[in-house]
Amino acid sequence: MKPLTPSGPHARPEHEQAAPKLMFFGDPHGDLEPVIAAVERFRPEAIILLGDIQARRPLHVELGSILELTEVWFIHGNHDTDSDADYDNLWGSEFATHNLHGRIVEIAGYKVAGLGGIFRSKIWDPRRPIEEAAFQSSDAMRRTMKREERWRDGISRKHRSSIFPADYQQLLRSGSSDILVTHEAPAAHPHGWHVIDELAEELGIQLLVHGHHHQNIDYLGEGLMTAATPFRAFGVDMGSHLAWPRNEPGPGGPLQDVLDRATQVFGAAAQAWLDKPHEQLDGQTPAAFAAESGTDKVRSMLNAIQHGGIV
Ligand SMILES: [Fe+2]
Repeated sequence: MKPLTPSGPHARPEHEQAAPKLMFFGDPHGDLEPVIAAVERFRPEAIILLGDIQARRPLHVELGSILELTEVWFIHGNHDTDSDADYDNLWGSEFATHNLHGRIVEIAGYKVAGLGGIFRSKIWDPRRPIEEAAFQSSDAMRRTMKREERWRDGISRKHRSSIFPADYQQLLRSGSSDILVTHEAPAAHPHGWHVIDELAEELGIQLLVHGHHHQNIDYLGEGLMTAATPFRAFGVDMGSHLAWPRNEPGPGGPLQDVLDRATQVFGAAAQAWLDKPHEQLDGQTPAAFAAESGTDKVRSMLNAIQHGGIV
């Protein structure tokens, strides 16, 4: 898995780069130093934490030094309900109202939808029809519990980070959005879920970003999704981040750029060529190579093919 921040020979010098609108941060698990350092360096308009924050002090205290520099938003992860302190330092912080779970908020000019938490089969196994879920909502679950079984007069702390069908369906019906942030991964991940993709498609998003798995993943660049997938998807590792828009040429990013060029050369066979490993790229596909290392080499191969070179 490769870092998601452009670096190497194709990255522009930092002083030539525009500040990103948004930065997404992988699961901090208590260490917010990489978040603070990245905000101080890149000055994004807003940041979104992708869950498993586990702040050691209230989140607004932990991030006190950057509150003047950026807007802070988050979704919760499964570990944010591990202990009373994990819970209180998030839901009890001054940022409690900045949880994107179950709603769409306009942030840095994008409509951002959020689905925090994870699927737990004791609540809802999303491989099964939604109406077969054990509980449709946290309220429905609470009603089945005796007073002494409750935590702070509600459902258990643990299940406050479980995804209930009602939360999912509320988001599904919330209209269109540009970006979806989730803790769980889409179906293309070995531990991902089709209902995440279905939500993404229903919302009509262009970008999906998730945490939880501690991996930097560019689903298109790594061949886990194709250009036919209606949205780009990324996983972000703990201690890592994804900047958006990415520092890429062209309105649709380099892959659209290269796809357009490949279509000029190959017509309908363009995508097949982009997805086929090529020996000149050390066995990588042109699509993966372009996403990872920039488009120059792939474009020059296409030029050579079009103008009679042998590639
Ligand atoms: Fe997690």
